[in-house]
This record gives sequence, C-alpha cells and structure tokens, in this order.
Amino acid sequence: MMRCFVDSADDAAVGALLRERLVHGVTTNPTILAAAGLEWSALPRIVRGWIELGASEVFLQTWGSERAAMLEHAEALRAIAPEVAIKVPATEVGFGVAATLVERGETVLLTAVYEAPQALVAASIGVRYIAPYVGRLDDAGRDGLQEVATMAELLRGSGTEILAASVRSPQVMVALAERGVTACTARPEVLRAALASADADAAARGFEAAMDGLLRPAAPDR
Ligand code: E4P
Repeated sequence: MMRCFVDSADDAAVGALLRERLVHGVTTNPTILAAAGLEWSALPRIVRGWIELGASEVFLQTWGSERAAMLEHAEALRAIAPEVAIKVPATEVGFGVAATLVERGETVLLTAVYEAPQALVAASIGVRYIAPYVGRLDDAGRDGLQEVATMAELLRGSGTEILAASVRSPQVMVALAERGVTACTARPEVLRAALASADADAAARGFEAAMDGLLRPAAPDR
C-alpha cells in the first residue's frame, strides 16, 4: 500500500489532483512556495482551499536557525487549520523542536533526513513521519533506494513512517513500495506519469470503438 502526496504549491496542479481524489494531501517547503510565486499572506487561504478539496494533511515547513523562532513559526502555521502538519528540517536544532512539538501533540514530519541514525532518533522521539530524499541521496553519489530501504527496516513496528521525498519517477515509487515504504510525495508531473500507459490507452480506444458499434442502430431485418 502506498499513500501518495503531491509535492507542490502550484494551486492549479494541486487542486486538480485533489479534485480527482488522486492524492491524500500536499507537501510543501519554502523552496516550493517560492517556486509557485506564492505571497505569504495568501498561504492560509490557499491551504484551506486544498483542505476543502479533500487534503487530509497539508505539510507546511517551519523555518529559522534558532529554536524559539522555529517554534513560533510552527505555531503560526498550525493556526491555519487542524489538518496542517509541521515539517521540521532534520538539523540538531530541528530535532529538539520536533521533540517539543510531538510533546504538544502535533503531527510532525522531519524532513531532509539523510542518515539512518537520524531515522532511529526520529522514531525514539515519536515523530509521525520522516522524509528521506531519495533522488538527492543518489545525487550525492549514494544509493537512495538502498538507504531508504534500510531506514524502512529500522522503523518497522515503530509509530514513525517514511514519507519518501525527492521521488523523481513512477519507477522509484514502485521500487520504494517494494522496499516497504508506504507513503511518498512527488511533483504533479511524476504523479501524472504514474497514471500513464500507452497500452491502457489503446485498450480504452478499443472499448470505445466496440461501444460505438453496439450503440449504432441495427440495420432492419429483410
Ligand atoms: C521535499 O521536501 C523536497 O522539496 C523535494 O522532494 C525535493 O525534490 P528534488 O530533489 O527532486 O528537487
């Protein structure tokens, strides 16, 4: 079982996937918000719109190099809606912030997780999700799928789930599922590509042609 999230703040693309019930929710980070050209003041309205369209969770990332700032920003983000979950970068400061948010009962995702020991500590402090970056691990010359598989094994039976990020192709989605990963986030184009099959399209055309024949008025008997 794989739950898919869309990793984007492109309102049109995200809205379409939510309307079609193709994703469970939305993941963002400051880079994604900036790429979408979002005005900060518009964020609450846009996030609430995604929730109205059925997003069960919307992940917004706190920021700041110091603990107090990160906690303050997390609070502001949480105030947007109950469905907002807080992403925290997996830095040393971020781990402490995540632990505090967990204690307060928040749903927390530790993001940019690159190391297996980080996965262990994340589970120990009780965060709900970690997001290892599969593609970026590969970019760094490491084996992203293997490293995420190791984390999945370590987390088995814990309350912490991998929500894999930097997933750049449908084939990686499948490979992650084969390795026990149960949630991933990907750009809209990757999710759309996961739906595509030339053979399925050809089969559908065949069904349409057959149906056209069935619906054509029969020639009268002579
Ligand atoms: C998630 O938070 C990241 O924005 C994203 O998954 C990175 O993907 P990329 O490495 O393909 O840019």
